Amino acid sequence: MEIKNARFVISSSHVKDCPSHGLPEYAFIGRSNVGKSSLINMLTCKKGLAMTSSTPGKTMLINHFLVDDSWYLVDLPGYGYARRGKESREALREMIEGYVLYRKEMTCLFVLLDCRHKPQKIDLEFMEWLGENSVPFAIVFTKTDKIGPVVLKEHIEYYKQVLHESWEELPPIFATSSEKRRGREELLDYIDRVNKS
Ligand code: GTP
Ligand code: MG
Repeated sequence: MEIKNARFVISSSHVKDCPSHGLPEYAFIGRSNVGKSSLINMLTCKKGLAMTSSTPGKTMLINHFLVDDSWYLVDLPGYGYARRGKESREALREMIEGYVLYRKEMTCLFVLLDCRHKPQKIDLEFMEWLGENSVPFAIVFTKTDKIGPVVLKEHIEYYKQVLHESWEELPPIFATSSEKRRGREELLDYIDRVNKS
């Protein structure tokens, strides 16, 4: 699938303020700085569409982007940013949980994981929670340009082993680099298949 046009629609601070449209939504979640906003820009080939930053905690709202007038990409704030105050962390947690649990348009949640790191408790617990709540999700490894192909394969295999301790059947897994545009076709084809199913 190719994207012809993509545009920013709205930022919302609560799931109840998100636009009503009935179109499928694909949302991006993961730790702060993992590369959620960059991935949206890479998929749409629009560099400044979602705001990115080398400092964690850039995305603070639920951002809707309309693609080809038929489906949405949704950029969410990251979780686990320790330097935020307790109150602000709690508000973000509520925003994310509200969207993930109650947004009926959400068709698939992409959980982003930095391919350089070993499985982290916060990500594993988050995916556990998704499973408990029957939230459909897929895993996207990011920043694959930062390590070589052999190490990448090892890291992904190790991650799968860890996931198998909790899951018999694993979710779809993608490996991407926004820098090198890796994994773009695979992700867009997956979205296309889900849209048509
Ligand atoms: P928050 O909104 O703060 O939660 O962060 P985010 O997950 O949206 O991350 P963002 O896309 O803003 O990227 C964070 C940093 O990682 C930026 O400096 C990006 O340039 C960098 N980055 C993102 N994706 C990649 C990638 O595939 N490769 C490399 N080398 N850097 C990346
Ligand atoms: Mg962001």
